[in-house]
Amino acid sequence: MCAQYSHLIDLNDYPIQWWDKVISLGASIYAHPQRYVQACAGKIMATLFYEPSTRTQMSFQSAMIRLGGSIIGFDNPMSSSVSKGENIKDTTKVVSSYSDILIIRHPMAGTAKAAALTAECPVVNAGDGGHLHPTQTLTDLLTLKMEKGRLDHLTIGLCGDLLYGRTVHSLCKALSCYAENKFVLISTPELQVPDYITKMLRESGCEYRVETSLDKAISDLDVLYMTRIQRERFLSEADYLAQKDVYRLTADKMCHAKPDLAVLHPLPRVDEIEIAVDDDPRALYFKQAQYGMYVRMALILRLLESEKPAPLLKGECNPALKCVNPKCITAQESYLPRQFTVVGGKTVCEFCEERALPLSDAVK
Ligand code: NCD
Repeated sequence: MCAQYSHLIDLNDYPIQWWDKVISLGASIYAHPQRYVQACAGKIMATLFYEPSTRTQMSFQSAMIRLGGSIIGFDNPMSSSVSKGENIKDTTKVVSSYSDILIIRHPMAGTAKAAALTAECPVVNAGDGGHLHPTQTLTDLLTLKMEKGRLDHLTIGLCGDLLYGRTVHSLCKALSCYAENKFVLISTPELQVPDYITKMLRESGCEYRVETSLDKAISDLDVLYMTRIQRERFLSEADYLAQKDVYRLTADKMCHAKPDLAVLHPLPRVDEIEIAVDDDPRALYFKQAQYGMYVRMALILRLLESEKPAPLLKGECNPALKCVNPKCITAQESYLPRQFTVVGGKTVCEFCEERALPLSDAVK
């Protein structure tokens, strides 16, 4: 196990002061990009994208190029040895030995952590299935810091696919750590946040309410975080079609919002925000995508220089338990340790945070 590297798997592996440092470095780079043009000269970043991406992949790549470094990688795993059946361990072990930092996106939850176990450089989670997306959260935090001037005392509405939207999960986990934030979780009953998120909100003492109507909630909000319905994560097309047009932010709805509302969206947008909203000065999603590049420059610098790695695994290996999540990387890669922690009295998988059951019950 290579614990000596500083990986970014989940923002909550680090103290809030660490995030604040990355965010303020991102703001300095935004203000003075020319000071950093040689900061990563001679360094190589690898991007392994097993799932489609525009912003995350290209903002990471442009971030490294703007720091004076170089990039390698794939965004079509079928053009690599993955098509020959290579596992995550072997691909990432080898690619990490060619590079100084490795950015990975994969459809299975927990993949970045699995890669970090044996990688020979820092690993960054660029999205692991429907689980987490910590660098989108750094992007969102820098956007709020720059545009609202604070990360606390905010009423944040999250709207759309709160079940499968990994950006929502990471953002809730992060914003619950700042004082007096309140959450309005706006979704259909089918697409509410996973239990571990509501449990986490309760445990951190955050006020939250579940709402089905965007019209009802919009006037209370300081931040509205719109999300796409995650078509690729539904079990059937019919289930997706039943959800797809439920929420749409329109110019008309914006008339009922606060004058200083910040509308964020991780993008890509499908049709959950009407194009006319783009002209509203409260629509910050394109600016947000640009901040993403600066905060990723800051993150690369921080991980390359960091001397104090966050611990990768905190719980215990228990071969008698099994994760119940079929979309967890442990269901695909059988060599991974059966690693579990106890959260709020429940035993959960350390890779995807879903429930664990005794092996005998799980296979029934
Ligand atoms: C998000 C993602 O991939 O989770 N996009 C992004 O990284 N900016 C959101 C989405 O795909 O809907």
